[in-house]
Amino acid sequence: MILGNPLEEILEIEWNTPGTVSISDILNVGESLPGDSGTTSMFPCWFDLNLARTGQKFARKYFGQIFFAHALSLILLLSDYQTRRVLFLTRKSDTPEKAFKRYLATAQQIHLWYHSDILSPEWAKSITNVRKIHSYVLFYVDSLNITNSKFTATREENPTGFQPNERLWKAFKMDLDNFDRRDRFMEFDYSAPKFKFNQFTMAMTVWSFMALPVLNPRPLGIAKPSDGDLQGFAHLWTVIAYALGADENFIFCKNARKDWRGCKRYLKGLFRKHLLPQLLNLDFEGEIMIESLLSGISTIIPRYPVDSLLINLLEGHLGKRAQHLRRQRSLQSRVFGTHANGLVNRFSRYSRPLRWFLTQLAFGELQLASLTVFGDPGTNSTLVSNGHFYV
Ligand code: HEM
Repeated sequence: MILGNPLEEILEIEWNTPGTVSISDILNVGESLPGDSGTTSMFPCWFDLNLARTGQKFARKYFGQIFFAHALSLILLLSDYQTRRVLFLTRKSDTPEKAFKRYLATAQQIHLWYHSDILSPEWAKSITNVRKIHSYVLFYVDSLNITNSKFTATREENPTGFQPNERLWKAFKMDLDNFDRRDRFMEFDYSAPKFKFNQFTMAMTVWSFMALPVLNPRPLGIAKPSDGDLQGFAHLWTVIAYALGADENFIFCKNARKDWRGCKRYLKGLFRKHLLPQLLNLDFEGEIMIESLLSGISTIIPRYPVDSLLINLLEGHLGKRAQHLRRQRSLQSRVFGTHANGLVNRFSRYSRPLRWFLTQLAFGELQLASLTVFGDPGTNSTLVSNGHFYV
């Protein structure tokens, strides 16, 4: 399943799942609700411990591939105007250097959520601390006065000090033109939200962690996962979403085991209705935030060129040829990028030792980067759950 195939399933966008707001309403309803629902329990009543543990086991086995999927999905998440605005306004990831640290800190928590027992005190502590950061963010961005909340960057006036690579973005956008005309002119309603950090942005963020491995495991190098494994992974993310304050009505795939097809359709519908139209209309602020993210990632996974990550997204997941991006590559990018993408997309799918190697590599790089930036490798769950937070 390629996310960006022509509109073969457009009618299914209206697909609803019981107990979850419809794909059409998720924006209008979600943006009027604060990003934290105020729940006080860690786990929802539909929590299935065994299924969540299956999801953790799957995430550990394919940690390298899933880490990579999170990086690619963040490109799509940062296309979302509302989520990106919040991240731009806090100014913790608007340059490659800042993004490197910010996403490294996030990767440490996510590593813990996959590797520590879900009932352990460290797991709960980590979630509680991230929720506290979010509540601070929610308060901060909503309290900005009207002038400050319009604060952004344009090519002419760019307060971040980071200039995105014009050639790269021109090529990327030309490759995006390969999308079907109907896709390109799909409208997105850029309305003014009541809360900046809201339930719509929560839902989009959960999508970015859950969707790619579920919808598109093969190009990630995840070999023939069973439905049970993927359902476990989806369930783990519904539980994380709940624990972080997502409102029940905005948590999709709660019933993945019973309605697996519905879960996948919902994920695909969210992409087509809410993320794709925004990716196709990416503005300068989006370029800054995405290139900062990708440069940060290519510091964590050294030598993975930024353009190769975009090529991977386009060709592996959106089903479009990246002819313009390929043409503007440097020699270094051609050599390392081609090998890196080949390793992730093709070879690791067939070779168990290579998969194991990728996971070790991702973990090793994460440790090394953590050691350099935070002074410890980020392997001690007590330390990670209490520290490294970025406020
Ligand atoms: C399930 C959804 C989410 C997850 C799993 C998640 C994960 C995280 C984690 C792990 C951190 C801590 C990073 C650190 O240690 O410094 C963090 C911080 C942060 N998150 Fe989230 N997040 C989610 C939703 C959101 C949403 C919806 C927004 C904005 C609309 C958001 C904005 C932020 C901001 C602004 C920070 C502080 C660092 C910064 O300014 O960039 N998060 N998040």
